[in-house]
Amino acid sequence: MRPLIVGNWKMNGTQATCAQLASAIAADTRNNPAPADVVLAPPFTGLLPVREAIRNTPIKLAGQNCHWEQSGAFTGEISPAMLKDCGCEFVIIGHSERRHILGEADEVIAKKLKAAGETKLRSILCVGETLAERQSDETQDIIQRQLELALKDQPKAVIESLDIAYEPIWAIGTGQNATVDQASEVHECIRQFLRRSLDEGDAKQMRILYGGSVNPQNAAALLEASGVDGLLVGGASLKPETFLPIVHSAK
Ligand code: PGA
Repeated sequence: MRPLIVGNWKMNGTQATCAQLASAIAADTRNNPAPADVVLAPPFTGLLPVREAIRNTPIKLAGQNCHWEQSGAFTGEISPAMLKDCGCEFVIIGHSERRHILGEADEVIAKKLKAAGETKLRSILCVGETLAERQSDETQDIIQRQLELALKDQPKAVIESLDIAYEPIWAIGTGQNATVDQASEVHECIRQFLRRSLDEGDAKQMRILYGGSVNPQNAAALLEASGVDGLLVGGASLKPETFLPIVHSAK
């Protein structure tokens, strides 16, 4: 499976700095083709400048979130159709910062996945456990429950346009990444869950990314870990000098 490397810029950057960062990444991949699929997720205000900067490259654009309706009285929200209109092919759904800081529940995440899939956006569904849950040995139960609630009764079109990101919450932005063994164990558990719950073909084509304090030093080892099909990168995706070595560490 070709690895997928996603840069999640979170709430960072002006239109100008987003364009600059995307241009540097685009220029590198023009001269030195990336050994992975590369997706950039700027803040909403950066989508159009980034779309312009990555034109004529294989780099793809993602939203960091979307609403479950396509339009209407939802002040402050953005719809899957609006993301599509800005050139997005992907959307991140259920990131732990949205679950934990903004109170997004599993039911809401399932509705968003459905709306994104119906709009032909490919979703990157984030799952992950807190430190307390890991310490009390609940990691696998928590992840399976998040997957179950997100995927339950989803139409086939939604399942077919889905990738998963395992992001242990204790590893996000902390500088403390999961070890290769910890990542492999959970990735294997996710793959088994997918095999049990979905058609074989659907379960097989989903990429399972690791996210949480990925940096140029640990990227190659994490990408080589069994069951890891790509990376979701936060902090280290904000500079070309840290993001590009991660992209090129894919084989
Ligand atoms: P981080 O963030 O790489 O800064 O830990 C990852 C993420 O939240 O997707």
